[in-house]
Amino acid sequence: MEANLGSQNRRNYLQSREITAQSVAKNLEIESVLGINITDISVYYRTQAALQNISCNVKPGRLTGIYGPNGAGKSTLMKAMLGLVPASGNVIYQTKLLSTQLDKVAYVPQRSQIDWTYPATVWDVVMMGRVKKTGWLRQFSTVSRKVAKDALARVGMSEFMHRPIGQLSGGQQQRVFLARALTQEAEIFCFDEPFVGIDQKTQSVIFEIFHELADEGKIVLVVNHDLGESINHFDDLILLNQELIAAGSRQDVLTEDNLYRAYSGRVMYFGNAA
Ligand SMILES: Nc1ncnc2c1ncn2[C@@H]1O[C@H](COP(=O)(O)OP(=O)(O)OP(=O)(O)O)[C@@H](O)[C@H]1O
Ligand SMILES: [Mg+2]
Repeated sequence: MEANLGSQNRRNYLQSREITAQSVAKNLEIESVLGINITDISVYYRTQAALQNISCNVKPGRLTGIYGPNGAGKSTLMKAMLGLVPASGNVIYQTKLLSTQLDKVAYVPQRSQIDWTYPATVWDVVMMGRVKKTGWLRQFSTVSRKVAKDALARVGMSEFMHRPIGQLSGGQQQRVFLARALTQEAEIFCFDEPFVGIDQKTQSVIFEIFHELADEGKIVLVVNHDLGESINHFDDLILLNQELIAAGSRQDVLTEDNLYRAYSGRVMYFGNAA
């Protein structure tokens, strides 16, 4: 299957990131201690299995994509990791259960799960990212306001700060939720399908910030379904279809056999594995 490659510059950039990331990873023998260890996660909705015995690691400093067909359990895996759905197995971050350290996590759920009629402005939504640091009913500090302003500027949404979130386009809403995640100053960023229904420009802005976060050593975990060129942005992939098909570097995961097993042979096109 032939990949639709982007520009030479983009390839060079991705290759140099790859080499840097690989050498950093080699030097960091302790990376599995620093990252997230997922062990034997299973989730049942009533008697229906959504996920079975998922075990894998998510490394800091790498952009990790969760891939699989509709209904594969991608959102469920993210929720199970954060303790948002009952699951067996465990998810450890730095030697403790991740679900007991949610103050270190910024989570942006799938668009369909957000109430867009909620009467909040862009500024309100972004400042929500500071609530854990400030506490409810307490005044936001000057530092918090500056962090939020900077985050809005970083995603290019400063001029919309007084706009109700329900009156933004899908791409603008995603940028605002990314800004809220940035204001949390989290160690772990979890985004569920952030690219659905957004234009190329917004996708590039968001990927650029994901890369920056990964380069800062954060854990950046993104549910995605687009098997096109954008898959080349990811350093690591977790490929599932109720069970784990493969996890590891993009090159190792993106084999025809793995894709065939995940998508039951229905995959027609995918990005550059090399
Ligand atoms: N709250 C729920 N109650 C019952 N079944 C559910 C619930 N949430 C998800 N499921 C089922 O669990 C399975 C996995 O769902 P999940 O939303 O995790 O898949 P997904 O990979 O994120 O799919 P999509 O690509 O459509 O977002 C599906 O069969 C879904 O119908
Ligand atoms: Mg989903």
